Amino acid sequence: MATSSSLNAIKHITVVGGGLMGSGIAQVAAQSGNRVTLVDISPDVLKKSQDSIQKSLGRVAKKLYKDNPTEGEKLVKTALASIEVSTDLQAAVKTTDLVIEAIVENLEAKHKLFASIDDVAPASTIFASNTSSLSIGEIASVTKRKDRFGGLHFFNPVPVMKLLEVIRIPETSDETYNTLMEWGKAIGKTCITCKDTPGFVVNRLLVPYMSEAVRLLERGDASARDIDIAMKLGAGYPMGPIELADYVGHDTTKSILDGWHKKFPDNPVFKPTETLNKLVKEENWVLKQEKDSISITSS
Ligand code: NAI
Repeated sequence: MATSSSLNAIKHITVVGGGLMGSGIAQVAAQSGNRVTLVDISPDVLKKSQDSIQKSLGRVAKKLYKDNPTEGEKLVKTALASIEVSTDLQAAVKTTDLVIEAIVENLEAKHKLFASIDDVAPASTIFASNTSSLSIGEIASVTKRKDRFGGLHFFNPVPVMKLLEVIRIPETSDETYNTLMEWGKAIGKTCITCKDTPGFVVNRLLVPYMSEAVRLLERGDASARDIDIAMKLGAGYPMGPIELADYVGHDTTKSILDGWHKKFPDNPVFKPTETLNKLVKEENWVLKQEKDSISITSS
């Protein structure tokens, strides 16, 4: 299934973090012909990742090869055989072409990780982070390879979502950037390019949009149901902003907003909302759509 010359440059990738995003990234890369090492600190997580990758590959194979189950089985088998799992990051990066970090959204943890592999990975290896909200430049600052550093921001679920945001920091070389763009295309994504701005393109627009919808609700300007219907039928969005906020998870949205607000206190669109703070405190609570006023109900 390899489609582009970039798979000549990138043959082996190491995905660090075997959670939701890391396992998706490992899957799409393996499906496209990369050899993949998926690394996590937890062997249990890696076992779960392998199971979820297998199931997800099964779904892909069924869709792609509806009338040819033998080919479908081959795809699953080949992709699974291309993925090895490991808890030994240092060993994994020794011969890798690209490291994609998808661990917890915490700058210190990401610094620790990249600092620990900078002297171990070959000089030619490109480092990338899948961070949603942190600065790629700040993450890269602990390495001596800023020219071979970039952002690769995937979307959940990775095997389904077509977009890949490729982020350049000022130091990213043209060669690194072109390799990342080509690799993104080769794994079947549509790539867009973006500077290292908070939230890149999608989250920079989406996060303030969701919190502005919550502010409408807080002021009692409209009900949750009406806000969602308005944006679906009036703007053609597949999901309303309140529904979307529940889907993304209020803890995720709050932690992104809190981080940006701390860094850019004068930007009003990054200001956290009271309702969001309350929702996060009261775990498993969701914004409900039926009522006319703010309605926070246990899920
Ligand atoms: P997750 O919590 O599902 O997975 C994180 C994994 O990293 C865990 O399995 C954990 O054991 C592992 N981990 C933590 N520290 C590690 C270390 N030092 N070395 C190796 N493994 C380590 O998180 P998720 O949702 O997959 O997110 C990962 C990254 O992707 C975050 O930076 C997040 O902001 C970003 N992201 C998340 C999206 C989402 O929709 N969840 C979308 C796009 C980006």
